[in-house]
Order: sequence, then C-alpha cells, then structure tokens
Amino acid sequence: MIYFDNASTTKVNSEVLGVITKSMNEIYGNPSSTHSLGRKAKVTIETARNSIAKIMGCKPKEIIFTSGGTEADNAIIFNAINNLRVERIISSPIEHHAVLDTLQKIEKDELAEVIWLKVDSRGNINIDQLEELLQENKKTFVSLMHVNNEIGNILDIEKVGAICKENKAIFHSDTVQGISHLNYKLKELSVDFICASAHKFGGSKGIGFIYKRDGVKFTKQIFGGEQERDFRSGTENIHGIIGMQKALEISEKNKTESEKHLLELKSHLISSIKNEVDGVTFNGLSDDLEKSISSIINIKLPTSKANKMLVFQFDLKGIAISEGSACSSGNNLGSHVIKKLYPNTDIGSNIRISFCKENTLEEVDTFVRILKELLSK
Ligand SMILES: Cc1ncc(COP(=O)(O)O)c(C=O)c1O
Repeated sequence: MIYFDNASTTKVNSEVLGVITKSMNEIYGNPSSTHSLGRKAKVTIETARNSIAKIMGCKPKEIIFTSGGTEADNAIIFNAINNLRVERIISSPIEHHAVLDTLQKIEKDELAEVIWLKVDSRGNINIDQLEELLQENKKTFVSLMHVNNEIGNILDIEKVGAICKENKAIFHSDTVQGISHLNYKLKELSVDFICASAHKFGGSKGIGFIYKRDGVKFTKQIFGGEQERDFRSGTENIHGIIGMQKALEISEKNKTESEKHLLELKSHLISSIKNEVDGVTFNGLSDDLEKSISSIINIKLPTSKANKMLVFQFDLKGIAISEGSACSSGNNLGSHVIKKLYPNTDIGSNIRISFCKENTLEEVDTFVRILKELLSK
C-alpha cells in the first residue's frame, strides 16, 4: 500500500511504539497516587512536559495535555466564552471542523458574535479585514489555523499575532498540521493559545496538548479531578504522552532532512502533474512551495472526468489518498474548504495527497501513472 494520507493521520513511528509498549509494562501507576509507582508515573509526565516545552520554545507550565486536537480547540474556544468573556470571535470559514463547528454552535446559541473573514480563491485569508475589525474597540478572540489541513496554506502567524497583540485581541492558532514541519519558538510569537495532536507526527491517537501563554486566564472545560494543575480533569494518558514526547523529539531531530525530502517529493509531484497530466489544477496555494506546507498537495481534476469514486479507485490500485470532501451516508456534501474557494460553482472532483518522510519518488511516479490511467478511462 502506498500511504499518501498523512494529513489524516500518520503511522506510529516504530521507536515511539517501543517507548509506548515499554511504558505500558512498566509505568502503570496512577500519576495522582502518592506511592512510588504513582510518583514514577508523575515524574514521567513532567519529564515529557519539559521536553515538549523545550522543543516548542515555551515554559513547561504552559503545556496542558489533552486527548488531541479536537478537545484542545473546544477547550480553548469555550474558555474564551466562559472565562475570558469575549464579546466577539473572528475566524475563517476554512478552519478545521474542530474550530468551525464549535464556532457555529456558539453563533447558533448566541454566546458571542462570530465574524467569518473573507477568503479568496486561493485560500488567502483577508488579513486587512481582520486589522480593520480589530480597530473597533471590542473584546475579541481570534482563531485562525496555522496550516490548512486540506490545501496546506500556511498563515503568516507572526503577522497575525502582531496585529492581535497591537489591538489587544486574544489569538488562538490551530497548529495541528504545522507542528513537526515548521520552525518557530512560541516565546517569540504573539500567540496566546495553540494546539497539537500527536497522531499527525508519528505519535498515537488520542493525545495532544494545549499551549496556553503564561498569564492568560484559562479554566478547565472538563470537570472532575485536579489533574494538569486543575486545567484538565481525567487520569492522564501517560503512554500517549510519553509517545508524543518521543515523536516530537524524533521529528525535531530529523526536521531539516525530512523537510528537504518532503519538498523534493512535492516538487516532483507538481512538475510531473504539470508536464504529464492534462487539465489538472492545484487548489489553494498547494503548488507554491513557500506558502504551503511541504506535506500537502490538493488537486482539482478535469470536470469532464470528475469521478466521485476516485478515492475508492485509488484504493483498489493500492494507494491511500483522501478526497477534499466529506461524504456522509452516500451523499457527497463536498469540502467546506474547496466550496469557499469557488463559491457558486460545482466544485467538481478534488483530491488531497499528503506525504510523510518515508514516502519515495517512486511512489509519486506510481501515483502519477495511476492518475493518468484513471483519467483516461
Ligand atoms: C487542523 C486540525 N485541527 C484539529 C484536528 C483534530 O485533531 P484530533 O484528530 O487529534 O482530534 C485535525 C485532525 O484532523 C486537524 O487537521
């Protein structure tokens, strides 16, 4: 199987798997227990927190472990409503569902005003509009993702952070897709909250974290015990945490080399498609090597050849990709991201190819050959 669906999830790295399995055997105490097994578990968690904070360029106490990206986005957004008491939220219509659906619920329940920024046909978010809106003197929370999970566009997080800081807005960025790829240190950014999900970078599913800038108010959104310094209740997923630590350490160590390889795969795919496959275009900025992430390419297939079963057909040929769309009960609802790029038109057939460092140029060639075959049917 050629696995080109790494933006959905990655395979657990074998070294990470080793660390997780070992910890399941050896570190089984409850971190809240006071006996030695409990204390050992607690120390393991705090060691992981320190290592993750060091890599992310923040203080250990700014890291709060969660069950992944969705919980983190929800907790950060509901904290803005319930605790920071913001009047207004500004976001974009091409956020991941973890942000989008949460904000739509807030809008529906009239818990705050929600403003959706304009997005152009290449997925650029209108930052001038954000700047203008922030000049109105309202207590505002801004949520804009760092890397779009469907089209790979990278947001200028430094610029947006600076604008938010200047206008005293709270800034959250869903950084789930950028972590392990992009270089930044949180202490150098004007961002108040970010979130991460380990299964996007070789860790296991069901574990992630929130970064909460020191000094910004946060209260837990899940109630129960006083774990995570009372920021998030529930017995810690210690095996997930230690695996996430290892996965982040490995990706940090290999980052330069992996990015070089991913860019090679991406530029090879872009040039092969441009040279060999007629009528295929690129969605968002995914053919711009500087403005989109190295791991994601999203393509639009020729209208006449549009085929809803394409993911299935690729699967039959041994390639896992994903459609730039969400399907439910046989109805193709279409991707909310692609729909926003081309409003009032039939969005046609779009697919996302997403790489990891284990993918090869030969696999890209096989994909292009099969794409040509399927389109010529
Ligand atoms: C940008 C983004 N945010 C949030 C999530 C949700 O993360 P999780 O699967 O850990 O809940 C994902 C996963 O698809 C994502 O790509």
